[in-house]
Amino acid sequence: MRTQVAIIGAGPAGLLLGQLLHKHGIDNVILERQTGDYVLSRVRAGVIEQVTQDLLDEAGVGARMHRDGLVHEGVQICVDGERHRISFKDLVGKTVMVYGQTELTKDLMDGRAAAGAPTIYSAHDVALHDIFSERPRITFRADGRAQDISCDFVAGCDGFHGVSRKSVPAGAITTNERVYPLGWLGILSETPPVSDELIYVRHPQGFALCSMRSPTRSRYYLQCSLAEDIESWPDERFWEELKPRLDEEARERLVTGPSIEKSIAPLRSFVAEPMRFGALFLAGDAAHIVPPTGAKGLNLAASDVQYLSRALAEYYAEKSRAGLEHYSERALARVWKAERFSWWMTMLMHRLSDNSFDHKIQLAELDYLFRSQAAATAFAENYVGLPY
Ligand code: APR
Ligand code: PHB
Repeated sequence: MRTQVAIIGAGPAGLLLGQLLHKHGIDNVILERQTGDYVLSRVRAGVIEQVTQDLLDEAGVGARMHRDGLVHEGVQICVDGERHRISFKDLVGKTVMVYGQTELTKDLMDGRAAAGAPTIYSAHDVALHDIFSERPRITFRADGRAQDISCDFVAGCDGFHGVSRKSVPAGAITTNERVYPLGWLGILSETPPVSDELIYVRHPQGFALCSMRSPTRSRYYLQCSLAEDIESWPDERFWEELKPRLDEEARERLVTGPSIEKSIAPLRSFVAEPMRFGALFLAGDAAHIVPPTGAKGLNLAASDVQYLSRALAEYYAEKSRAGLEHYSERALARVWKAERFSWWMTMLMHRLSDNSFDHKIQLAELDYLFRSQAAATAFAENYVGLPY
């Protein structure tokens, strides 16, 4: 098989890249280790920046998001039982869209099927060859036989545990990492959300987040230890731990019910540099991870894909390598700003130690955020997403 761009991974990064390349008339094949159903069963975050929405529209897959997504003009932060609101609309004139990543992935898959572009699911033992040559090759097993694809470029969109980043010679890559001593325990439930807006909660017992997927479906998170066993978290225990962290109004409005999904995610900051190695371009979680506190994971995957799709379109239309040469530097400049914001928000909102000094510094910083228009504007600017 031969294609122009071989894409590894059918997460949001790979699917969105495939769709944008297709719009530019660039051939591509996606290789995905899992089945399509498995990819769609993963519950992930759901806050979409304006620039990401624009890119989804450009890819021709934004219609359902505009119809069913919830436009949020601000976000709420609750500190020790008292709620504060930060209005994106007033401060920076922008909004975000709350729309589940699962739904978005489905829209991208439907778009790809309508375009007739090939995705090979259940592709095993994917291996990259000759990435520093003009003719890279991918080998894999699918349908019980060994297969291979030759291509011009490889897009490594295979997430943090993928094969692409691991295929790079150790001396060519630098990794920057910070692991936080905590995780998020999340549940999805068929209950109305406690508020029209997300509430990020800082509480002495630990962080909590009240989010949503629709007016009838809620998503809640609690800070937990990394050693936590999900089996020891029946739904009742989750709700009992959430309640005391909320303000009185939210506590009264909280509707509890059985969970339809429950999972624990560790918190990590990670950046691999550079993001290009010869003909291999990393995008999304394959190159970087943010803790979920700033809701930036999906949006960063989309911004990488924006730079990469433009660079490839420019290469095929004009034979110019300029965009390809600058890809890593441009993508990383935006990545690091989102890493900073996500790290800052994580340090601000969680219970990280028993040290009273750390605790008081958090409270002082939060007080400043609520009182200073400049600080709130900076927060809003970062939360709604920096321009490309
Ligand atoms: N071969 C083929 N596919 C692979 C391989 C492999 N060796 N390893 C991983 N994959 C697939 C995974 O099964 C997954 O479907 O690559 C895909 C990567 O998707 P994501 O992990 O969703 O990463 P990305 O597309 O970069 O999306 C980033 O989604 O994961 C969330 O929190 C993340 O919001 C962020 C966004
Ligand atoms: C979510 O709805 O899953 C969500 C929202 C905001 C975050 C993280 C997760 O910061």
